[in-house]
Amino acid sequence: MLKNVRRTNTCGELSADHVGQTVILQGWAQSVRDMGGVCFLDVRDRYGITQITVDQRSPQDARDSAGRVRQEYVVEVEGTVALRERPNKKIATGAIEVIATKVTTITKTEPLPFAIEGGEAHEETRLKYRFLDLRRQHLQTRLIARHKAGMAARTYLDSIGFIDVETPILNRSTPEGARDYLVPSRVHPGMWYALPQSPQIFKQILMVAGMDRYSQITKCFRDEDLRADRQPEFTQIDLEMSFPTADTVMEMAEGVANSMWQAVRGEDIGEVPRLSYAEAIARYGVDNPDVRFEMHHSTITGILAESESNVVQRGLEGGGIAKAMCVKGIQPSRKGFDKWTEFVRRYGMGGLLWAKVTDGGWTGPGSKLLSADEQAAVGAEVGAEAGDSVLIGLGQPGKVNPGLGRLRRHIAIEHDLVKSTDFGFVWIHTFPNFEWDEDNERWSSTHHPFTSPVAEHVELFGTGRESEIMSDAYDLVCNGYEIAGGSIRIHDPEIQGKVFTALGIDPEEAEQRFGFLLSALRHGAPPHGGIAFGFDRCVMLMTETDNIRDVIAFPKTTKAQDLMAEAPNVVDGEQLAELSVKNTV
Ligand code: AMO
Repeated sequence: MLKNVRRTNTCGELSADHVGQTVILQGWAQSVRDMGGVCFLDVRDRYGITQITVDQRSPQDARDSAGRVRQEYVVEVEGTVALRERPNKKIATGAIEVIATKVTTITKTEPLPFAIEGGEAHEETRLKYRFLDLRRQHLQTRLIARHKAGMAARTYLDSIGFIDVETPILNRSTPEGARDYLVPSRVHPGMWYALPQSPQIFKQILMVAGMDRYSQITKCFRDEDLRADRQPEFTQIDLEMSFPTADTVMEMAEGVANSMWQAVRGEDIGEVPRLSYAEAIARYGVDNPDVRFEMHHSTITGILAESESNVVQRGLEGGGIAKAMCVKGIQPSRKGFDKWTEFVRRYGMGGLLWAKVTDGGWTGPGSKLLSADEQAAVGAEVGAEAGDSVLIGLGQPGKVNPGLGRLRRHIAIEHDLVKSTDFGFVWIHTFPNFEWDEDNERWSSTHHPFTSPVAEHVELFGTGRESEIMSDAYDLVCNGYEIAGGSIRIHDPEIQGKVFTALGIDPEEAEQRFGFLLSALRHGAPPHGGIAFGFDRCVMLMTETDNIRDVIAFPKTTKAQDLMAEAPNVVDGEQLAELSVKNTV
């Protein structure tokens, strides 16, 4: 407790226990109701709201000044706590009111662009006036939850020997695969720093430096297309440990997640099931499945292999697959099926073959294209019963899997199959080490180039079978969001060289880009591995919002702007000249 504080109480703590006490409160006048003779002020601070009553019991001065208070003025109120005649059960202080003896306006406000309580405003206006937006309880609660989660994670990590080490913000390009934010160097004209996409290389070097267990809650910067769960600058709980197996890191990460969920939700995350990447794709079509509901995919390529339908045969051409899922107890109208079809087209699927299951058999396009035997076999495979819908996707795996996978979650949200208060965690592990980059016609890293291939696949390097190489990587997924990702790293410079070669990075380029890490690996590197949590995403889930901006005090828009600070912005020519930089627009 601080001694030198003028207020005696916050606006959230007075109760019947305080009746008769003289108190001083400070806060914002959330509402002013002047009833002629009696004036009620609801004074609000971060902790709550207290009703102030100014009536014939108050001195004239207090009544006059209360009459001049307007919404959102900052006020100080002195008075006596009294029981209310009619308690308000909706607020924590609802049993009492404060009979004012003195009301002081500390500061006034310009007209408000929107009401703090219950006022509607476009998100752009709210972000421009973020200082007003942040006065709202739903945002304050989230920032407080964020603080609690961060504290809990740190305390847990400290208890198992992790030490917090800061890593540079001004540095050079890191290999997470997004575009860099660049900062020109004044001292070295023509040279640029890159802001870290993650502290990946530094945390590995800390392991070589013998720090054993590192953690940091840190900002990362990625210039990528933004979505509801992505920000250009976001926060990671970044972790690395020496001498672990994947199991060690996963156990530690579950401990971190558990500490946060305990602190914010008061509940354990429970046992986290594990699925290999291959199993996840087979069962859910995506590597970030929402496991709170069933609607599993079944591969039915074999069942339809001999189909006489041209549509089916075209779908299976050239390595195409057929997958089906059963939507239990839901049979939308034709329009509803059309909407689902539109949805999967976004993922490149040509269409969606659907059927309604009735007591008398299938109806809808699926019943026309599949023979009775095929319908029976597919129905049995997906467990379809009368009242269900069967959805079939045909085509290349790269389209059918994400199309049906995303549709699965879309249907669950559309039909309220999931509650935001339920949490479904799952580990996805053993990812392909490389992904084929269509645009550049070369392999790229699924995670990053320092991810260790599984030991038994090292011999596949240089054999043309790079696509089969799996990595010792793991992602933690919750409710369909990837909330953490990590891996065991390569600590053997020779294997690191093989990975660079597979990625088309020759030794000279590797030395130029990652020389300092390679040098560290050549100087006694312990086996090491780690993971990073997307902290914002964790807070999003724990506080039940699907908008990442709700959990960041000063977020950017989807166009990467801070509308309040008006960033990015122009700088004057002199500043640019000093940096040897010229604007070309
Ligand atoms: P990765 O790139 O998977 O791994 O990032 C880790 C986690 O960070 C979150 N995340 C984001 N959150 C908000 N906005 C973004 N733009 C954004 N990008 C990523 C996700 C993700 O799971 N260095 C590795 C970690 C490691 O290997 O230890 C890394 O950064 O929740």
